[in-house]
Amino acid sequence: MDLLVRLYALEPKPELDQRLADAGIAVRRVLAPELGLVSDWIKEEFGPGWASEATIACTRQPSACFIATKNGKLVGFACYDAIARGFFGPTGVSEEARGAGIGHSLLLACLLDMRVQGYGYAAIGDVGPVDFYVRAVGATPIADSEPGVFAGLLRYPD
Ligand SMILES: CC(C)(COP(=O)(O)OP(=O)(O)OC[C@H]1O[C@@H](n2cnc3c(N)ncnc32)[C@H](O)[C@@H]1OP(=O)(O)O)[C@@H](O)C(=O)NCCC(=O)NCCS
Repeated sequence: MDLLVRLYALEPKPELDQRLADAGIAVRRVLAPELGLVSDWIKEEFGPGWASEATIACTRQPSACFIATKNGKLVGFACYDAIARGFFGPTGVSEEARGAGIGHSLLLACLLDMRVQGYGYAAIGDVGPVDFYVRAVGATPIADSEPGVFAGLLRYPD
């Protein structure tokens, strides 16, 4: 199922930014020289499909891929305009870093950037953790959206 987010109704969350900064976590756009490193990390943590999507997002200018770093190491990523224009995703946070607000912060970084790029709404495709998006940004289900833009997707062998 796909979800819809009203970008025009989103507010930045400075208290979340401060919480992450206090924990030594930075959320920012990927820089071009980091493409290989980011793509390799995503492939290792989440598989080749998401690494491919992130590569598409990183090769836009400005890059449509954001990362979270702690102590000089990657702990999460989020993209938009990868599977289709106006779509958020994929996103992932390394298992040991979950539950600290990083996923929420990466999501907001992308969605607020989409608004700056001129979008009024964002779709989130083929959602796993629906409650995460409902809670973080008030996302709502899109009727008849399955299988949506992912229809017929070829799968990598295990
Ligand atoms: C989904 C994911 C990115 C969330 O990252 P995270 O850093 O753990 O999330 P946060 O700590 O920012 O959580 C923000 C809020 O969402 C809630 N939340 C987090 N993961 C959730 C989940 N899977 N289901 C429901 N709620 C969730 C948190 O409890 C928190 O709520 P609160 O603000 O009331 O405290 C992470 O669990 C992940 O990488 N999962 C595997 C990959 C994945 O499923 N990606 C999404 C594909 S559509």
